[in-house]
Formats: sequence, structure tokens, C-alpha cells
Amino acid sequence: MSARQLIEKLPSAFLPEVAGDADAIFQFQISEPCYLSIQNKRCTFTLGQAAAPSLTLTADDEVMQKVLRGETNGMVAVMTGKMKTHGNLKLGQSMTTFFDLDVLTPASKPSWLKRSLNKLRPAKNPSPAAMATASPAAMPEDSAAGGCPFQHGQAQGHGDGFVDKLLYMVTPVDPPGDVRNPYPDWAERRRSKRVEIETDRYGKDAGTLVYLYGHAEVIECLHNNEDFSSSILQNMYSSVMGAHILVGMDEPAHAGYRNLVAPALRPKLLTKWEESLIQVVVDELIVKLKAKGNKADLVADFTFAYPARVVGQVIGLPQDNFEQFQQWAMGILEGAADPDKAAECAKEVRAYLAPFIEARRTDRREDMISELVHAEIDGQKLNDEEIYSFLLLLLPAGIETTYRALGSMLFHLLSNPEQLNDVRNDRSLVNKAFEETLRVDPPVQLTPRVALRESKIGDTIIPENAVVLPLLGAANRDPAFISDNPEVYNLHRSPLRHVTFGNGVHTCIGLHLARLEIKIALNKLLDALPGLRFDDEEVIRLDAHIRGKSFRSPTALPVIWDDD
Ligand code: HEM
Repeated sequence: MSARQLIEKLPSAFLPEVAGDADAIFQFQISEPCYLSIQNKRCTFTLGQAAAPSLTLTADDEVMQKVLRGETNGMVAVMTGKMKTHGNLKLGQSMTTFFDLDVLTPASKPSWLKRSLNKLRPAKNPSPAAMATASPAAMPEDSAAGGCPFQHGQAQGHGDGFVDKLLYMVTPVDPPGDVRNPYPDWAERRRSKRVEIETDRYGKDAGTLVYLYGHAEVIECLHNNEDFSSSILQNMYSSVMGAHILVGMDEPAHAGYRNLVAPALRPKLLTKWEESLIQVVVDELIVKLKAKGNKADLVADFTFAYPARVVGQVIGLPQDNFEQFQQWAMGILEGAADPDKAAECAKEVRAYLAPFIEARRTDRREDMISELVHAEIDGQKLNDEEIYSFLLLLLPAGIETTYRALGSMLFHLLSNPEQLNDVRNDRSLVNKAFEETLRVDPPVQLTPRVALRESKIGDTIIPENAVVLPLLGAANRDPAFISDNPEVYNLHRSPLRHVTFGNGVHTCIGLHLARLEIKIALNKLLDALPGLRFDDEEVIRLDAHIRGKSFRSPTALPVIWDDD
């Protein structure tokens, strides 16, 4: 498929006059009216009404410079030189922009773009226009391991060519850009089709994608692990996590492995960790937070570090090397944007873990490594590779999810001061605040499956090899599942339920730990920070919001509190 043919198939409501032999494509979605003008090779991109813009960016802007350095999450296309384009964008439309990379000076080419280009350039034939589909926004936003399921994996039925890689880079589930609220679109789609099959969005060779928007359909898929395999997850992450990724296994291998690792997260151990570890971590973080004064960004100063510290110690790693461990964890979490770096970090984590695993064989302690090393069912033990895979999976599964969920819960509570007050005054509501957050804004929106054979979901026939995407956040807001204002955050609703921890044999094994971590964090934050509330000026200045389509969490949580 030529670059031009591909471009024509991209889901763009707006195409520039001339795509030509452009070197790069940037695609981004807008959620507010915006206006684009180009004069004398100078581009102005205005968000909001043209007469009263909420944000204007020009090529000379400081913000634009941040874009070039890949540091912003703004809704911006970088456009210079030979590009020709004109037009207005409408609300909800996406736009594809083409520009000549050579016009950018080498110094101004952001590193993630160079990386993308290197990866996408076909090795045997460097002459065709190399294209990168990326957005300054997309990379940091949805770059976590376990993020966009297609960014560096091979689903069944797909080849390994240049176009395939390109196709994997942009999916309708994960369009680059600052996706603030994917839910209205999903609700709209659910109204017309609870199961949507897409066969031709990226051309015939791109395979079939199936989106599940309804709660019943999501449950049906997650329960039917005979027809819908999790192996797609194993394929996607094996280069980082090895050959034994629990979440990517099918039965019966999955059940055997899960039985072996599950005791490492059993409730008895959790009770022990509650006092000796989790509370200690929260207390330490709060001391640091308060040392700064009466204001903080709870993402930078609390939520980001918290689950990594807990999981590191739960695993059995010493505190003194914690920062290095967190750096590795972050490298692995960035796997979708930089698979090489993720693989390198995984290698280092293995080397780091090896002596601990060896030591725990003779010196058993109350930590997860000891549990894994000594786990045995019917004479069966875990081998080293199985232990590595499980520990590496915990970085995205146990850290990323909880950090995002905690941030989103704080964001929803701070945005609803009355409900925050209710929780402050009645701590039995803490759990409800968390469960309602998981319902209304899951930190992980989808967990893919691949159809092993032709089968059915509801009345819809799912073709063999189709990649099936159960959209957990859409399911949680299905009016057929939650009838009372499903779009609204309301921790008092009853019953309060969701599918955010999954369903069926792969249901989250760490849900008790996640709940415990959140309960302790929220209780202690409310105790230590009286009158905790949003710092409104900072919220506006930083444009703090929850963002993401496959992964969601707040960009910032600027807060203030009263003196003790
Ligand atoms: C709010 C926090 C969390 C959320 C929303 C979450 C969500 C999920 C979901 C949806 C699945 C099922 C995936 C699938 O069906 O393909 C899952 C599985 C899993 N989760 Fe969690 N998780 C969270 C926290 C944790 C924690 C704290 C840990 C461990 C420390 C953890 C470890 C795992 C593991 C190992 C699996 C694989 C289970 C299996 O395949 O049998 N998760 N999680």
C-alpha cells in the first residue's frame, strides 16, 4: 500500500490539499472548536472560538517549542515549510497534517519522532517516504506498557511489514491527542451498535477490529475464554516480560500458573503489609508533601510514587535502591513508546532481581519473592523464568493501574466538593468513592482478546482472528447496566458495580491490594490535609484534567489545604 493510499484510508475528516511525499503525519483529535491559519509559512492554531480563543499557538511560541521537544500534551500539529493546508475543523473531528521533516532543523526534531521514524523506515527500501504517525500528545499519554494494545505487538493475522507497523501505531481506540472525554462517543456508538465490527478502516490487510460497548457483551467476551484468547497480550509483551505472562495465558496453563502465584497476594499477607508497609509509605510521602507548605500537585508529589513504592516492597526489594527500581519500572511502563528501552530495562530488572530470588531460596521472608520461590502445588514449582515474568507483569499491572486510579479518584472527589465532604465526615464511604471512580473512569479502558474461531457475541458474528476490544468504561456506563444517570460520578449510588477489574478467569488478582492501598491513602490524606481542595488558580493555569482513551488519569492535581 502506498503512502498516499494509506493516507486516503486514514479516518480523517479533513485532508490537506497535498499530501505529496510528506515525511511525517501527525494526527490529533480536537474536543473544542478550533481554527487553523497559515500565513507566510507561519501556522497559528487556535483552540476555542476564533474571536475568543482559549489557547493560541504559533510557530514561535514557547509552547510550540515544547511541542518540538516532545514535552507537551497539547492538541497541536507542528507545521512548517512545504505543507499546504487550509480549512476549519469542527468539534469532534480529527485532522491529519503532513509536513516536510527536512524543514525542521535536526536539533528541533524531537527525539521520539526520530525514534518513530527509525523504527518505521523500511530496512530494505529507504526511498519511500517514511512516515510517522504520532502526536506530541499521544506518546506520553498512552505510552505505558499495557497501553495501546497495538503499538508494538503482533496480533494474529497481521504481518510484520512496514505498513503493518504503521497501522499498529494509530488505532481508533487510541487516537493520538488529548482525549478528555471518550464517553459521549462511545455512548453514541452503543446506541446504534452495541458490537461494532470494523474491517476496512485501515485497508483489507489490517484485519478486523471488534468494539464492545455494552456491558452484557463485554461480560460475554471476557467469560468466553474458549473462543476469545488472551494470547494477544502474551504476543504483545513477551519481548519485555518473557514467555510466561499470566494475563496473556489461556486455559489450562493459566489456571495452573495463577494458582501458584495467587497465594503471593493472599489476604493474610495484605493484613500484614497494611501496617508494616503501606501505612509507612503513605506517612513518609505525606511528611514530604507537608514539608513543602500548604500546596502541592498530588500527581507529582503523591500518586506517582506511591504504588511503585508499595509494590517494590511487597515484592521484597530494599528501600535504599528504590529510585533506581522506579526508573526501571517507568522504562518498562513506557514500553509502547520505546520498546527497545523497555526491553533494556526489563533486562536490568532481571539482573537486579536475580540475587534476591537466589537468596530467598534459603532465607525465606514475608515477601512476594519468597512466596513465589517456595510456591508449590501438587509437587509443581515455578521456575525462574515464570517468576521473572510474573514480577515484571506487576510493574504495569500493579503500579500503573493503581497510580492512575488513585489520581482519578482524587480528581473526581475534588471536582465534587460535596461528595468529598461526605467522605471526609464518614470514612465508610472511602471504598465507595474508589469503586465509583473505577466505574466512571477506569484507569485501563480495555483488555484485548483475539477470536480463535468464528463465534458470536450477542447476535453478532465475530470472524476468526478478529481482535476484540471490550471497552470497560463504555460497559460501566451502559444504561442497561446502570440506569440511574450512568454518566455522573455519584458515590452514593446503589448498587455500585463495574467491570473495571475484568471478569472471568483473568479477573484482577491484585484487586484487594489495590483497594487496600487506596483506602489507606485517602484516609491518611484526609486526616493530614484539613480542608483539602483544588487550588482553582493552578487548576486553570495548568489546565488540569483527566485524559486518555485506553489509559486514563489526571494530568495534575493542584491542591491546597488549611493549616493544622
Ligand atoms: C485499580 C487498580 C487495578 C485495576 C483497575 C486492574 C485491572 C485489571 C484487569 C481489568 C485485569 C484483567 C485483564 C484481562 O482480563 O485481560 C487485571 C488482571 C491482573 N491484575 Fe490487576 N488491576 C489493578 C490493580 C492490580 C494490582 C495492585 C496488582 C498486583 C499487585 C494487579 C495484578 C494483576 C494481575 C497479575 C492480573 C492478571 C490476572 C490473570 O490473568 O489471571 N492488578 N487487572
